[in-house]
Amino acid sequence: MAVLNVNIDHVATVRQARKTDEPDPVWAAAECELAGANGITIHLRQDRRHICDRDVRLLKETVACKLNLEMCMAEPIVKIAEEIRPDQVTLVPEKRAELTTEGGLDCLKYKRRLAEVVKRMHKKRILVSTFIAPETEQIIASAQTGCDAIELHTGMYANAVSQRAVKKRLNQLQTGKNLAMENKLVVHAGHGLTYRNIEGVARITNLCEFNIGHSIIARAVFVGIRQATAEMIRLIDKFGCSS
Ligand code: PXP
Repeated sequence: MAVLNVNIDHVATVRQARKTDEPDPVWAAAECELAGANGITIHLRQDRRHICDRDVRLLKETVACKLNLEMCMAEPIVKIAEEIRPDQVTLVPEKRAELTTEGGLDCLKYKRRLAEVVKRMHKKRILVSTFIAPETEQIIASAQTGCDAIELHTGMYANAVSQRAVKKRLNQLQTGKNLAMENKLVVHAGHGLTYRNIEGVARITNLCEFNIGHSIIARAVFVGIRQATAEMIRLIDKFGCSS
């Protein structure tokens, strides 16, 4: 059954809105863990618009469950990962003007760099996942470069409106997951997942990890992050059990 990593970037977004010291993502991570989250996900962006270096260092010291660092493959960021050694890195593309991570990583185009980063992360015993669209060539390139896992981009599923489109996107995710497993990759999923749309992906068997941020932090504004996390875990368990 899949487990939940809470992406706490937007706790830091609120802090950075005033460039002060609250709310603290370190505190948020502890609350998520107490609610039963299996992992904490943070994205250290090059522009440091939310999570900053201090957060990564302190979270490495304080998170008892899995620490998943989302990052691009720019050299200064790769060096920080080597130094801090999170449990896992999820490699993402990064554009300066984007509101959030847009497409998946192009593992074909950057295959050589990806292979090098995988090797360096493995040397530090860090697992490597690539955030990719559910496309054959991306999955194969992730496997060929020695990645441990992939995170299937669920944004297209989340944005689908008609029943037909939703079904099409779920089929693509299912097919991508099967191919990844045939290639010995562990399969995660994330982006755009909410309390309303989690059911469709939670019913896909053998998805191991969901990375969910915005929806949980938005709910946390009203009910607190511990309850918001627990509610999402309950849904994942409920729909995951019935598959
Ligand atoms: N997975 C990846 C790779 C992401 O970049 C993000 C956004 O930071 C998420 C999951 C979480 O997406 P959302 O905030 O829409 O839940």
